Amino acid sequence: MGDLEVLTPLINSQDSLCSQDQISNPETTNAWGRLYPENECLKIEDLVKDNYNAGRQTNDVDFQFTKQCFSLKVMNHISKIHFTINREKIGTLDHVVFITDTSANGTFLNGEKIGKDNRWILSNNDKISIVSKTNYVYTFTDKRSDYLNCPQKVREQFAVYGVLGRGTFGEVRLAFEKKTSKCFALKKVNRESCIVLREPDILSSLSHPNIVNMENFIDTTDAIYITLEYMPGGTLKQLIENTKRLKESESKIILYQVARAVQYLHNRSIAHRDLKPGNILLSYKSPLSVVKLADFGLSKKITENTHLKTFCGSLAYLAPEVFSNRKLVTQSCINYTNKVDSWSFGVILYECLSGHKPFVGDHIEEKIIKGVYNLSKLKLFNTSNVAQDIIKQLLTIDYNIRFDFDKILKHTWFEKDLLMKEKVGNLMAEFSNSLMPSHKYSSNKENVAKKIKFCSCLAQDTCSESIRT
Ligand code: ADE
Repeated sequence: MGDLEVLTPLINSQDSLCSQDQISNPETTNAWGRLYPENECLKIEDLVKDNYNAGRQTNDVDFQFTKQCFSLKVMNHISKIHFTINREKIGTLDHVVFITDTSANGTFLNGEKIGKDNRWILSNNDKISIVSKTNYVYTFTDKRSDYLNCPQKVREQFAVYGVLGRGTFGEVRLAFEKKTSKCFALKKVNRESCIVLREPDILSSLSHPNIVNMENFIDTTDAIYITLEYMPGGTLKQLIENTKRLKESESKIILYQVARAVQYLHNRSIAHRDLKPGNILLSYKSPLSVVKLADFGLSKKITENTHLKTFCGSLAYLAPEVFSNRKLVTQSCINYTNKVDSWSFGVILYECLSGHKPFVGDHIEEKIIKGVYNLSKLKLFNTSNVAQDIIKQLLTIDYNIRFDFDKILKHTWFEKDLLMKEKVGNLMAEFSNSLMPSHKYSSNKENVAKKIKFCSCLAQDTCSESIRT
């Protein structure tokens, strides 16, 4: 329908319609959000509950639109329940706020019609109008104002939520694409980080079920924002911290998938170079997970820069040749840099099985260069001889004889374990099935659920490579 004549004054959201005494300090209330009126008859609404209805109906609405606020003509076009606002917890992590248009004559967000039974993400400073796009009723503010730090270019497209993790290059936050409600992990890479991005098109052309999809890059003055496939289970680092150590069978399920991913990268002449538990993402907060590798191709400069000390957490995973002959690493010798990943893989395997890193403490560089580590910790946990052997093949100082990923995957520990491969195949299938649209983040209304395209995290795996061998 066309724009209706609106009798209520159109007020710029900068001009507050609220008197100061109406404005309680949001920090002192337990409100998670607030609606600021854009119509002088409406009042400030602090959002405390999870669900709200707005409309002309007299009962069962939280925000009532009355003839005191709107002309008769507009009133006649307002539905009993015109829109709803609700917030839902996503996993164990964060709440996401949605607005659903339940009206016959339209609810608009920032001037765009949402569409009957569609629901969009509601984020900070979004303006809600009803019946016509200029008939503003509220501006929504999200109490979590730190997200305002995101550049406009990012906020236009994404509603950005809590921190999922902090990596070598910057933080990763949960984000929803506003128009599609797809969820992502939004990685911010600070410009001052020692980083050289590979060609975005190379990165986004990679497709493997154990590699996190990179969907998009947003370039801003201070940082590059990368939208990554969201993995709800967090990182292997968090899993090890929570469970102390993993069983051998659990470690194998995870490491097999990592090995497949790294082999795929190496076959395409991409070395990861920053392989560590913090870059290994899980579908569930459990070792029985689908595993995806993140952050490859970002770390090109790590091995050649002189500030290895600032590289804190990750030093423990770096190969000896990185310390002993940094210059060599800068040369484009593919096999050489690939072997850096084999070493890191060995460190991760040791850590999963024992709950400890093989090289820690003071003078870590020297310890790594000497390659002396304690196998007795593994024996303590009854680690099999064959698992100990693969670690030995990986934590080998001489990179010429250190196993590459073809050899790793052919090692008895992996190759002979058909049951493990079957389990991994089942996990992958289960993950892609469980991630069909409706269950997780949809509202109760079936027709609403149908219209929402959910997370790429929930999308079917489109990869052509099968995990089953
Ligand atoms: N932490 C870092 N990257 C992530 C991702 N893609 N999904 C979930 N948590 C993450």
